[in-house]
Amino acid sequence: MIFYIPLFSYFCTFITFKIKMKYNFDEIIDRKGTNALKTDALGPRYGNPDLIPLWVADMDFLSPPAITEAIIERAKHGIFGYTCASQAYYDAIINWVDKKHDWKTEQEWLTFVPGIVKGIAFVIDCFTAKDQKVIIQPPVYHPFRIIPALHHRRVVDNPLVLKAGQYNMDLDGLKKAIDSKCRLLILCNPHNPGGRVWTRRELADIAEICYDNNILVISDEIHSDLAFTPHKHTPFACVSEKAAQNSITFMAPSKTFNIAGIVSSYSIIPNKESREKFNAYLAGSELEEGHIFAYLAAQAAYEHGSEWLDEAKDYIRKNITFVDEYLKKNIPRIKVMLPQASFLVWLDCRELGLSQTELVSLFVNDAKLALNDGTMFGQGGEGYMRLNAGTPLANIQKALDNLKKAVKTRQIG
Ligand SMILES: Cc1ncc(COP(=O)(O)O)c(C=O)c1O
Repeated sequence: MIFYIPLFSYFCTFITFKIKMKYNFDEIIDRKGTNALKTDALGPRYGNPDLIPLWVADMDFLSPPAITEAIIERAKHGIFGYTCASQAYYDAIINWVDKKHDWKTEQEWLTFVPGIVKGIAFVIDCFTAKDQKVIIQPPVYHPFRIIPALHHRRVVDNPLVLKAGQYNMDLDGLKKAIDSKCRLLILCNPHNPGGRVWTRRELADIAEICYDNNILVISDEIHSDLAFTPHKHTPFACVSEKAAQNSITFMAPSKTFNIAGIVSSYSIIPNKESREKFNAYLAGSELEEGHIFAYLAAQAAYEHGSEWLDEAKDYIRKNITFVDEYLKKNIPRIKVMLPQASFLVWLDCRELGLSQTELVSLFVNDAKLALNDGTMFGQGGEGYMRLNAGTPLANIQKALDNLKKAVKTRQIG
């Protein structure tokens, strides 16, 4: 008997452990009325508040419980005065970036930024002048184009090229596009909307070209934690000393753990001169001061979120496979660009033979779906739509059934 009790308690612990570890990504949680952009901006943006929302890039899953618990625990204290970043916050970032991406960063390289898009704007403002140019690689995350333009910088397109159903960088095109006015290249690493995880070779080539031409690189690595095996994210700054010394990297736990609303991103700048210049710019408006829940959430996510992330990635990957197989079987004229990272699926709808207006209308008016119109990502986005697969599978099934019906009704499938 004496032997059975420990065995039994081990068994119970094992079961509890298993149950605790199982996060339920199938759970459908109503986000309406929570000021969620994804649901509550459907009316103003799409003209119909009841569409199935598969657009803006956050997920419909509960974040890791450790984040929620840390926030609740802190909120219970009831005093929300001026806050500083703790040593544990910095350690959590440094350990995460080392463990997940094999990059040994130093605390002084890190600075809180109130959002990556804002960070990009700060770099533009701080490191370039009004008549200078910013290079981007479309189709790409639309603020890369919009933000420099709003700051009166000229945007130079170096479009990606399609090879075997995946995007590749056009390095010869890049060399040709560069002139003495080009000061900055904004790199989406991994890529949104195509989901490419750039290889070390590709990144090293970009690093070389930019260094030789005195072009600073912003590496936006917000999707880096979401790379699917066997693809492995390479931080741009790790590919060479030139890359490390000539770049500003932005990372965040926001996409990874579904906490975009908390705003907890940071810059990593190994080069002392660039770092001091950027930090002085931020300090000029106290932009580098984070807030209580940003520090707490980032720390909790990085300290306790790894298992949740593994399960989330498995779930997302299965969703993406489902989309791919469903379309192949039911709407073969729409093709999936299989993402190597993250939950965004780039749908090639060109074979439907519709104009972009007709394509958007097919999704919105006929199928009752809110996806991102491919043209918002710039050159090369025509004929594409971007679908967000970070949602319970049942939502995706319903969305694809709607789309199948709409295509059939229009007789274009
Ligand atoms: C590549 C990329 N960068 C930045 C962002 C937004 O970052 P933030 O909310 O920190 O401005 C997104 C969101 O979709 C993104 O895809």
